Amino acid sequence: MNTANILVTGSNGLLGQNLTKILLRESEYNIVITSIEEESFFDLKDFSEKLGVSSDKYEKRYIYEVLDITNKEKTKKIIQKYKPEFIVNCAAFTNVDACETEKELCWKLNVDAVENLIISSRISNAKIIHISTDYIFDGKNGPYNETDTPNPISFYGRSKLASENALKASGVDYIILRTIVLYGYGNKIKPNFALWLVDELRNSRQVRIVKDQIGNTTHADDLAYAILKSIEKVEGKQDIKLIYNIAGEDIISRLDFAYYMCEIFGFDKELITPILTSELHQPAPRPLKSGLITLKAKTELGLNTMTSKEGIQLLKFEMNL
Ligand SMILES: NC(=O)c1ccc[n+]([C@@H]2O[C@H](COP(=O)([O-])OP(=O)(O)OC[C@H]3O[C@@H](n4cnc5c(N)ncnc54)[C@H](OP(=O)(O)O)[C@@H]3O)[C@@H](O)[C@H]2O)c1
Repeated sequence: MNTANILVTGSNGLLGQNLTKILLRESEYNIVITSIEEESFFDLKDFSEKLGVSSDKYEKRYIYEVLDITNKEKTKKIIQKYKPEFIVNCAAFTNVDACETEKELCWKLNVDAVENLIISSRISNAKIIHISTDYIFDGKNGPYNETDTPNPISFYGRSKLASENALKASGVDYIILRTIVLYGYGNKIKPNFALWLVDELRNSRQVRIVKDQIGNTTHADDLAYAILKSIEKVEGKQDIKLIYNIAGEDIISRLDFAYYMCEIFGFDKELITPILTSELHQPAPRPLKSGLITLKAKTELGLNTMTSKEGIQLLKFEMNL
């Protein structure tokens, strides 16, 4: 592959893997998927088999490259090699509590690496699609619109807000997609809230779930689809500076989400003990009354996302349970 339409960073993560599938299945774009590991976790054989088509159909449309986006020179080299029209940044330091203790590492990946992408994007005039979070808000008065004023209360939130600001100040074309409580399934991915719950509850372990954190939850498939819709919306256009909230349809507590999991997977509700966030003594403060209003994405991208129950049903299907 000499040129690519889209380059994806962090392709081995939850979103990266779901995005790879959506781009191969729902578009004709050529893609370069990149992540920090030596090999791609995306399983083409399994993917094609599930769709009942030959893997040849997809093989020529994607390539995997090792890329650590904190390495400025390597990042430039890869962009120079493929000259993508879009860079989709799915890489991030996503462990919110670890960000409080590993501040330097967090900043290096969540902010400095985004600066590397900005510099490199100028080589091919690529538009950057960047993923941000509701953690840029304090959670006093959610749900939030795209125009509400951020006020992060954790180091992770501050780093993600700084990455947004770096894009806004850069002059390059960008779309920021803010999301919230991302969950889903993938090969060798780190446990997210939903996967952790499945693991605990199916092994009949007691879990303590917070009842005072309110917001939407987002299946990674919906966010991946929103990325494709965003690309299609701005392809070939100039002067793109956009922000969209991308999140599941309903606003619920984490506790409700856990109860829905029990209903749909058939787990025992008695395993759940409702608690307050303050009882967890986590290093990073959490926004409590959060949530993202998705009207803009609905009207401008034509995006209809899943409800929590629909997302959990899909997760169950993906996990073959
Ligand atoms: N998860 C949520 O609840 C949530 C909520 C709101 C927003 N978001 C945002 O959504 C985006 C996607 O999150 P996710 O849950 O898909 O994250 P994820 O599963 O942690 O994926 C991130 C990927 O980036 C890789 N990576 C780490 N360091 C890298 C580097 N230096 N260069 C290239 N790749 C590197 C990671 O590899 P390793 O696994 O080896 O580190 C991982 O495969 C992030 O921007 C995140 O901030 C997430």
